[in-house]
Amino acid sequence: MAQTNERQINDTSSKASASLAEPKGKRPPVLVDGVTLNGPTLDIREAESFLRDAMPIIMEEAVWKATDIKEKVCEWRSPEQLKDLLDLELREGGETHPQILQRCRDAIRYSVKTGHPLFFNQLYAGMDPYSLVGRFITEAINPSLYTYEVAPVFLLTEEAVLKKMIEIIGWQEGGDGIFSPGGSVSNMYAVNVARYHHCPDVKVLGLSALPRLVMFTSQECHYSVAKAAAFLGIGTNNVYVIPSDKRGKMIPAEFEKQVQRAKDEGALPFMVNATAGTTVLGAFDPLEEIADICERHNLWMHVDVSGSSLKI
Ligand SMILES: Cc1ncc(COP(=O)(O)O)c(C=O)c1O
Repeated sequence: MAQTNERQINDTSSKASASLAEPKGKRPPVLVDGVTLNGPTLDIREAESFLRDAMPIIMEEAVWKATDIKEKVCEWRSPEQLKDLLDLELREGGETHPQILQRCRDAIRYSVKTGHPLFFNQLYAGMDPYSLVGRFITEAINPSLYTYEVAPVFLLTEEAVLKKMIEIIGWQEGGDGIFSPGGSVSNMYAVNVARYHHCPDVKVLGLSALPRLVMFTSQECHYSVAKAAAFLGIGTNNVYVIPSDKRGKMIPAEFEKQVQRAKDEGALPFMVNATAGTTVLGAFDPLEEIADICERHNLWMHVDVSGSSLKI
């Protein structure tokens, strides 16, 4: 089959194959089962020179200057000013490499440098060179994590990281996990898992087959907990908010009172969201006491650790 393909490509009497082979610097196209691979979309020399020009800009502006205390955390501009400066119009014809490189510089210049030593936020901890190179590699390879065949290395890496995290948490009996794009999505997964645990029929029968479900969370929790309730059809009115003490920790006695209230109302209490590192105060809810209440009332206990310096 390879010979047939080569004949087709080298047949310059065909207008299509002549135009595919023409521009210098392009890899020769290959026909496989009637599909052109290595085709004209990529001029390999142009691509290489662009990458070679872009990398020093990234290193200088987004790595070195962005982590240098003498430089600014951000070159702040109002939205109106920034729109003018960036010229965000999407043009049909594309742009030259020098123009795109200038856009790279501008994108970095006017962005907030989250790795800067003066950027203080609970979700960031500076720039880590090893993670950065890891991200360069994953971006260059651009894998999906859905099967071993597509991402063998990263799938095994995910398993190894989850195994280590489960060890750190101390789950003797083992456990499972998933990489998630952030805290909000993790909280939503948690509500879904808790609901499935209590009402496995939901998967097939849907919400109409369920009793009124009630979940609990402290007044200091992240708003994504209520958002998860809204997205999953629980309803924000069915998120019972538990008062916190003056240090921002959920008050266990108040939690138990609210569980009893839901039961008295004929609803099905099914989960609590406890927070280990609240968004504003960094408070840790009393996990042991909350766990005891969960055991007494058969509730799923989720711990949201997205806001603290420890990330799970
Ligand atoms: C405690 C807590 N949970 C969840 C989130 C949401 O995380 P993300 O922004 O990654 O969705 C945050 C974000 O600040 C948080 O502090």
